Amino acid sequence: MWSFHLPTEVLFGNGVYGDMPLPAEEKVLVVSTSGSMERGTLTPVMERMADRSVELFTDVRPNPDLDGIDAAAADMRRLGIEAVLAVGGGSSIDTAKALARLLPNPDLSLSANLREGKAAKSPPLPLTAVPTTSGTGSEVTPFATIWDRRDQVKRSVDGKDVFPLRAVVDPMLTLTLPRDQTIATGMDAISHAFESIWNSDCTPVSTYFAFSSLSLSLDSLARAAADGSDLEAREMMSEASLLAGMSISQTRTAVAHSMSYPITMEMGLDHGVACSLMLPELLRYNAVADDGRLQALSMGLGYRGPEELAEGLEDLQTDLGLDEMYRSCEEVDLLCLDKRMLADSRAVNNMRPVGEEELRRILSDMDARLRRGP
Ligand SMILES: [Fe+2]
Repeated sequence: MWSFHLPTEVLFGNGVYGDMPLPAEEKVLVVSTSGSMERGTLTPVMERMADRSVELFTDVRPNPDLDGIDAAAADMRRLGIEAVLAVGGGSSIDTAKALARLLPNPDLSLSANLREGKAAKSPPLPLTAVPTTSGTGSEVTPFATIWDRRDQVKRSVDGKDVFPLRAVVDPMLTLTLPRDQTIATGMDAISHAFESIWNSDCTPVSTYFAFSSLSLSLDSLARAAADGSDLEAREMMSEASLLAGMSISQTRTAVAHSMSYPITMEMGLDHGVACSLMLPELLRYNAVADDGRLQALSMGLGYRGPEELAEGLEDLQTDLGLDEMYRSCEEVDLLCLDKRMLADSRAVNNMRPVGEEELRRILSDMDARLRRGP
């Protein structure tokens, strides 16, 4: 038995941002970053909503913090916000998802909701999500990643009501994305697609989305990184990111993501880099228990099998400088993080179960390869 549920309306195309449907409500909260504001990215929507009561929140931080969002929500509750519009990367959209849940629930804090399990009484505010990166897929998923620095864990705002009402994906918005962010977010999209394919909850629909995503991203990420103005490569990456987001909206991510959260916290590596470093090792690990899906994926992508695809991934990582990024971080004993890596709920989604011993071997192999270099 399998199901498919994706209630978000998706608008995709070059220039679609300029005349996208705006929230119908009168009091709108726009969630973004100061960088987007300074670059003028918000100007078209702010001009079109000039006659409305628009509240601007541009204090979004990378890897949004649970207590920080609670503080922001406390300041906004009296404003009577009726709808939320997020313009930015994954951190902006995830912050917006959390605020959309908190603002109609005056008695609810994110701390009570995520740390203590207190439920929201009222449904979230309608959310329009406009990604300006190609990787997060958050514009079409029913969850948001929230970082609890007090307890040193990653948490999730989760539930079918977390799906945005509308996603507006305009590849032209990614033309100014710097090379390092292009690489990090692009690798996040690649990780999402793999994590959905080797997921124990995969469905024919999620696998189709994930395969289509990889056929686009593996051909276009290096192009987009080499020449940010290559609109065709940007379009391919935007579509790849959207499709990967759709695939994990059904399956959620898996063990590469659960491994990545402590790596990001302890080493400071960007999420998209951290969750993609171990993909070659995981592909080899899962290939041992392949039920045909990894062989079919590899051949569909033009490789003879999973081993050749894993080598292709290693080459891509080297070309994009991921091993250098890894080596440039302060050395951390990753093996000490094994319990935290397996504590996240995503860890059990891998098609081949991963215990502590297996995880430590995957980490050791990854570390040795990345430190050895090409
Ligand atoms: Fe991710």
